[in-house]
Amino acid sequence: MVTTTRVRERFLLACRREPVDATPVWFMRQAGRYLPEYRKLRGDTDVLSLTRDPEAAAEVALQPVRRMDVDAAILFSDIMVPVAAIGVDVRIVANQGPTLDRPFRTDADLERLRPLEPSEDIPYTLETIKILLGELDVPLIGFAGAPFTLASYLIEGRPSRDHLRTKALMHREPETWRAMMVALTEHVVLPYLRAQVNAGVHAIQLFDSWAGTLDPDDYHDHVLPWSRRILEGLRDAGVPLIHFGTGTGELLGMMREAGADVVGVDWRTTLDAAWERIGHDAGIQGNLDPVALLGPWEVVERKALLVLARAARRPGHVFNLGHGVPPEAPPEHLQRLVDLVHQRTAR
Ligand code: CP3
Repeated sequence: MVTTTRVRERFLLACRREPVDATPVWFMRQAGRYLPEYRKLRGDTDVLSLTRDPEAAAEVALQPVRRMDVDAAILFSDIMVPVAAIGVDVRIVANQGPTLDRPFRTDADLERLRPLEPSEDIPYTLETIKILLGELDVPLIGFAGAPFTLASYLIEGRPSRDHLRTKALMHREPETWRAMMVALTEHVVLPYLRAQVNAGVHAIQLFDSWAGTLDPDDYHDHVLPWSRRILEGLRDAGVPLIHFGTGTGELLGMMREAGADVVGVDWRTTLDAAWERIGHDAGIQGNLDPVALLGPWEVVERKALLVLARAARRPGHVFNLGHGVPPEAPPEHLQRLVDLVHQRTAR
């Protein structure tokens, strides 16, 4: 473990369900296109190149923290970074997302998933973390994509709504699917997250953004074992583990069971109903509909207060959106939202 300067504890306390002076708040995709300073810094550079420039990546992660009183920062990287780092030909196409010219289709493709060697393959990520730990006075969240969500991009070759090819492979070629989950877990996600923890991140979020596309049985049989292996494998790291997905209303209990301290919830389930499913012995993160940010402030305020009312001051709530900040969101709404959450929950 790297020793770091003291950071504001509120977010970490809430993740452990300990008493807090106010509900902590941060936003998924808080670094990104809705901020003019981000658009200026990024210019025409693609996201993957930006993540390979530690000074620039650290600056982007710091931008929202300078503007708003958020209680955590998130590493500026992308779920495809470790996959690209082991040589898979993935690009991130602007306004679209991860794209592969040669998507994964057969057993032979699995050879492309060689083990990640963090110090050689992602020195820039480790350097970005080092810079951030020297600058931040709030905790730094590291992250990775979960095997299912990573596999969905590798197999589809581009963002997909229904993940047909991914689910078809799971059913038609169960052995190939299993081998792919093993390789993503052992060669990519675990070494990537372990390296982030060793570099000093204070918490980890596992993004299984598209897991909600699965029925509960398929999630249980073909996905949960690998997410569990990752979360249980990181248990000894001693940092809070957050497990997030969208459309996961029916999967929340299993996502908790996978070994998460905190389960991230989208806006499709009310926070109180979601917490029942997760169990009150775990934390919850969420869950304002990001699109509310496109309405007038009164809508943001009303809907945020509903989220807080449903959290009912139970220990273990981390306020967040149900998914990432939309590029069209006015930064002023987010700044006011942070202050609203802090003021209304001050103990
Ligand atoms: O503050 C932060 O959260 C920034 C760090 C971050 C990025 N990607 C940078 C990024 C994080 C946490 C991610 C995770 C990520 N990437 C996920 C999981 C979170 C989620 O949204 O569910 C997923 C599914 C991806 C894959 C990906 N990368 C997509 C779907 C896109 C969107 C493409 C687009 O242009 O809208 C990206 C690109 C990306 N990654 C951007 C950022 C800031 C936007 C690209 C830009 O700057 O133009």
